[in-house]
Amino acid sequence: MRVIRAKDYEELSDIAARIIAAQIILKPNAVLGLATGSTPIGTYQGLIRRFKDGKISFSNVRTANLDEYKGLRADHDQSYAYFMRDNLFDHVDIKPENTNIPNGMAENDAKECERYDCVVKELGGVDLQLLGIGKNGHIGFNEPADAFQNGTYCVKLTDSTIQANARFFASADEVPKYAFSMGCGTILAAKSVLLVASGKDKADAIYKTIHGPITPQVPASILQFHPDATIVADEEALSLC
Ligand code: F6R
Repeated sequence: MRVIRAKDYEELSDIAARIIAAQIILKPNAVLGLATGSTPIGTYQGLIRRFKDGKISFSNVRTANLDEYKGLRADHDQSYAYFMRDNLFDHVDIKPENTNIPNGMAENDAKECERYDCVVKELGGVDLQLLGIGKNGHIGFNEPADAFQNGTYCVKLTDSTIQANARFFASADEVPKYAFSMGCGTILAAKSVLLVASGKDKADAIYKTIHGPITPQVPASILQFHPDATIVADEEALSLC
């Protein structure tokens, strides 16, 4: 696992955007696995800037997002589909039909998981998977558990994740209780993985991800098995390492 120490959020976002931009330049039809949350916002801004400066084009890029809340329509302002349009897709030349995200309104959970796994397979797998990390070490919505999940599944969110995400909703009661998420198996199958982390809140999770035992209790620790995983984190997130 490669660890890149950035001095602050701004620098980590710039480094992450540079790594993703390089992937797009090397392979203009790359499949990017994308994440939501606060941390990747700066990375997306860096990509938008590079697009506006004419350095990269998303016209052939394909994407597959990690996760989506169950029960939120794509036009709900807290859905991850909305987040992606707001923070990246609406600002670059990506084709909407080349973007993929689990359908939070699917009627049949099992069928939706199967469909999404097929989508990723038909894309030929993910070239570069961008990840954030939860305070408890979750990646996507893979929460601490007794076993790692392989493909896409419908997951019950933990109280800590619901509380962490409550800041985006009127109250914790409004945070959906379930989500669709790629499993750790799908994440590990990406050709390369780029995890971004910022702030003291993430220091414990980052320490365990890099130095701890590989355990489903710290889902991100599975990245120790990945042959091409990079963590870009700021001083605070790396303060325990
Ligand atoms: C969302 C996702 C989550 C977040 C994590 C950290 O697509 O993958 O695992 O990356 O909850 O979120 P922030 O960056 O808001 O701390």
